[in-house]
Amino acid sequence: MSTVDDEVCFCFHVRRQQVAILFDRHPDLQLPQIATRFGAGTACGCCQKRLEKVLAELRTAAAKHAKPPPSVAPFC
Ligand code: FES
Repeated sequence: MSTVDDEVCFCFHVRRQQVAILFDRHPDLQLPQIATRFGAGTACGCCQKRLEKVLAELRTAAAKHAKPPPSVAPFC
C-alpha cells in the first residue's frame, strides 16, 4: 500500500518505486523521460525538485552497489 510519503508527483500520483523501477531499466534516466513515461512534473511542476532528489538518491545508491572493475592479475 502506498502512502503520501511514497508519492513524488501528487498531480499524477507517481510513486518513488515507479521511478526506481524505471531507473533500474534506464540508469541514465532524466526528468524528461520520467515526464514522458508518467507525466510527472508536467502539470504544476512543483515535484521537479523532488524528482531530481529521487534521481540523485538512486544514482548514489547505484554507484555504491556498482561492482569494481576486475583486477588485472600480474603477468609474473
Ligand atoms: S506534483 Fe508533479 S506535476 Fe504537480
